[in-house]
Amino acid sequence: MIITIASFKGGVGKTMTALHLAQYLGKRRGSGNIVLLDGDPNRSALSWYERGQQKAAFAVMDGDEAPSEFDHLIVDTPARTEPDELLPLASASDLLIIPSDISIFSLEATISTISTLQSLPNDKYRILLTMLPTRGQKRELNAREALAAARLVVFNAGIKDRTIYQDAALEGLPVGDLRGDAAGAAWNDYQLLGKEVWKHWGTK
Ligand SMILES: Nc1ncnc2c1ncn2[C@@H]1O[C@H](COP(=O)(O)OP(=O)(O)O)[C@@H](O)[C@H]1O
Ligand SMILES: [Mg+2]
Repeated sequence: MIITIASFKGGVGKTMTALHLAQYLGKRRGSGNIVLLDGDPNRSALSWYERGQQKAAFAVMDGDEAPSEFDHLIVDTPARTEPDELLPLASASDLLIIPSDISIFSLEATISTISTLQSLPNDKYRILLTMLPTRGQKRELNAREALAAARLVVFNAGIKDRTIYQDAALEGLPVGDLRGDAAGAAWNDYQLLGKEVWKHWGTK
């Protein structure tokens, strides 16, 4: 399958999601060869991967190169995507993942692209809520309600705001390779996302 990760706002966890979804798929038995294509000119996925001395369960390639053979490809994209670039990205992919935090600015940016998103079949995209508060569910539930009212489809899995990701970034490792409860909880968020993706799109 080909999964593209894009958003209308920078700094919402696209690269984090690309890396951890690639790691989840790479660790899943029988999922084959996983390649992450780093399409951001900042090459943040590539530099993360190089910091960790390529110990990850997947390969990262420069977005200017044609991807080598893969069973599943994850494409990370630049800081932000214009809404009219979404359709070509979606048609080149089996699944478009749109991370969004739940600040009103991010939700408004996502909801403002509703006409583009609604023109896609429902199995072509999912919004992924990121940087969710670890305590209290009210703000997350409100965000889910607002998106549902706009008839946008959202992953059941959500990614919580956790400082452990900074440690993982420094070491160039996926959070699941760090020790401790905080790392385990963060990896669990991405495992739940990975399972949801695999269940619906794994056979593509
Ligand atoms: N769930 C999270 N909790 C806390 N910090 C996060 C989380 N996801 C990403 N970050 C941090 O937020 C910043 C932006 O994340 P990144 O994945 O690079 O976003 P993008 O690729 O959308 O620009 C980075 O410093 C990253 O370490
Ligand atoms: Mg990025």
